[in-house]
Formats: sequence, structure tokens, C-alpha cells
Amino acid sequence: MTTPRQTTLTRFLIEEQRRSEETCPAELRLLIETVARACKAVNQAISKGALGDVLGSLGSENVQGEVQKKLDVIANDLLLDANEWGGHLAAMASEEMETIHRIPNRFPRGEYLLLFDPIDGSSNVDVDLSVGTIFSVLRAPEDCAGREVTEADFLQPGRAQVAAGYAIYGPQTLLVLTVGTGVYEFTLDREIGSWRLTDGPMRIPTGTKEFAINMARRRQWSPGIARYIEERILGTEGPLGEDYNMRWTASMVADVHRILKRGGVFLYPGDHRKDGKAKLRLLYEANPMSFLIEQAGGASIDGAIPIMDVEAVGLHQRVGVVLGDPEEVALVAEYGRTG
Ligand code: AHG
Ligand code: MN
Ligand code: MN
Ligand code: MN
Repeated sequence: MTTPRQTTLTRFLIEEQRRSEETCPAELRLLIETVARACKAVNQAISKGALGDVLGSLGSENVQGEVQKKLDVIANDLLLDANEWGGHLAAMASEEMETIHRIPNRFPRGEYLLLFDPIDGSSNVDVDLSVGTIFSVLRAPEDCAGREVTEADFLQPGRAQVAAGYAIYGPQTLLVLTVGTGVYEFTLDREIGSWRLTDGPMRIPTGTKEFAINMARRRQWSPGIARYIEERILGTEGPLGEDYNMRWTASMVADVHRILKRGGVFLYPGDHRKDGKAKLRLLYEANPMSFLIEQAGGASIDGAIPIMDVEAVGLHQRVGVVLGDPEEVALVAEYGRTG
């Protein structure tokens, strides 16, 4: 018998495949291995910092209207290059690309679609705080085989995801993954360069008195969100009679990872005044994180309904996000209904 820490990602995925060809077929296993290998390359690039001339911004803006950091583009290219030739994918989509990236004709085409946020929390790169890579895997629609893949093929609900995960580049480099059979954490063993199982199946601890929200956006909150936060700020002097802590990393990966490990709730609501206009992206941020959170016993809503049931209508569609401890998320939904 091996101890969990001796279980590498490769072994874990092979055992998953043996358990169920349906949830972890060989093609998906190899795709996940490729993504994980690309994350190692991203990790290397980030860790060079100023010495590798990878910090700072480029003159360009992405389709989101955000100034691109050098590492946004470097990581995007690393993910594209690593995943293009393996034969597992029909196309890719990313926060940093206006439209989809089809697999060039010189490579075989596979049956999956890969979506990613190459660097999540990229405003933190230059100040040496945790950032990450988020990814989501969908099956390409069956009729894709005989025609060109289109953006519409990516517009599937989060429930259709077959795998999702993130790498977090922090004090440790971790890979957190689900293929729909629980959530597992792997730590990068930097000496031998392999991912080793260090936690899982992960369960979100309940009852943690912590919330994560950008307080500077208070003017945008709906009455329900404002009530939920106000009660917690009042602490022992309010109806809850207990003090809460606030944490905000400004890297969704880091905030979600803390919730998976320690509990609490994360909120990035839509702007109440602007018809719910939100910041986080449905397809490559909210959906993969929601898959992981639900698989770990948590809940994830857009403020009212589960994010994975939200209809996808655009590649870069944005959505409000409230996720974490299921009781807290239910309370936010209830306050949203009653004000
Ligand atoms: P990205 O760096 O991929 O554009 O994502 C940043 C996102 C998310 O990671 C984080 O939760 C949020 O933006 C932070 O927003 P604020 O700048 O409002 O704190
Ligand atoms: Mn960005
Ligand atoms: Mn992001
Ligand atoms: Mn990003």
C-alpha cells in the first residue's frame, strides 16, 4: 500500500480511470496531465519574477478591457502550446483571447473543449501574492466532428463540465482538481517535479465565521448583500452575537482555496445599480470554481440560482458569485429574496 503522499497525479488519474471509464476516460486523463504540466511551466515563469523580466504590464488590453500583464500573455501562450498538439482537444477559450482557439489542422482533433483563466489575480503578480490558473473541461458537442468548432459550442451550462480545477502559485504550488468524484489537492514536489496527493476528498468546513468581499464596492450591493455583510460587521453588537473576520486576497483562486480548506463564504456580487453587471467570468472562473465547491459539499449561486444552472450566452459572460459554506450561501439567497 502506498500512503496518500506517495500517490502522484499520474497514479491518481490512472486509478480514477480504473474505477470509472465514464468519469475519467484515458483521453480526459491525458488532457488533465497536459494542463497540469503546463501549470508547472507557468509556475516556473512566475517564480523567476524580476530576474526573468516577467513582471509588469504590456501596452495591450484584453477583450475584458483590462490591461494585460506580461504574465497573462506568457501563461496564455504556455497553456496554448502545451495543449495544442496532444490530440485531446477540439478547441480552447481563454480570458485573454477575444475568440476561441481552434486546434490547427496539422494536429489531430479530440473531443474536448478546454477553457482557462491563465493567470487569475494577475494584479497580485507584481506584489508577490498568490495567483493561480483556473481551468474547465467540456465535451465538444457530438456534431462537432465534421465541421468547424464555433464559440456556440462552448456555451454549455456548468453542469456539463467533465473536469475542473486550478493551480495556485503561493507559498506552495498546488493543483486542486475534480472529475466529478470529489475534490483532490496535489502539491508540487519541486525537487522531483511531480504532483503528489496531499488532501482529499476535500470537504468545506462549516460554521467558519469568515467572509470575503471587496468592501470598496459597497455602493453596488443589493439590499440583501448589504444586510448579510452588515449583520456580520456588527458582530457581538448585532443580531448574530458573534464576531466575524473579513479576508480578501483579490485572487479568486486564493480566496476559494481558503474556503475549501477553512470554510467561510466568498462574494463578488453583480452591481445592483447596473442591471446586475458583474466582474467574474462565468465560463472560466465561476463555473469551474462552482464545480469544485459543490463537489466539496459547498454551494455556489449567482445571488439567486446555482451558477452551474446559469445559461451561457457569451464566451466572456460575467456573473455574480456567492460561494462556500452551504448554510451561509442559502442565507444570502434568502436575504436576496426578502431584502
Ligand atoms: P483576473 O486577474 O483573472 O482578471 O481576475 C481577477 C478577479 C478575481 O481573481 C478576483 O476575485 C477579483 O478579480 C478581484 O477583484 P477586485 O479588483 O475588485 O478586488
Ligand atoms: Mn484579467
Ligand atoms: Mn481571474
Ligand atoms: Mn486572468
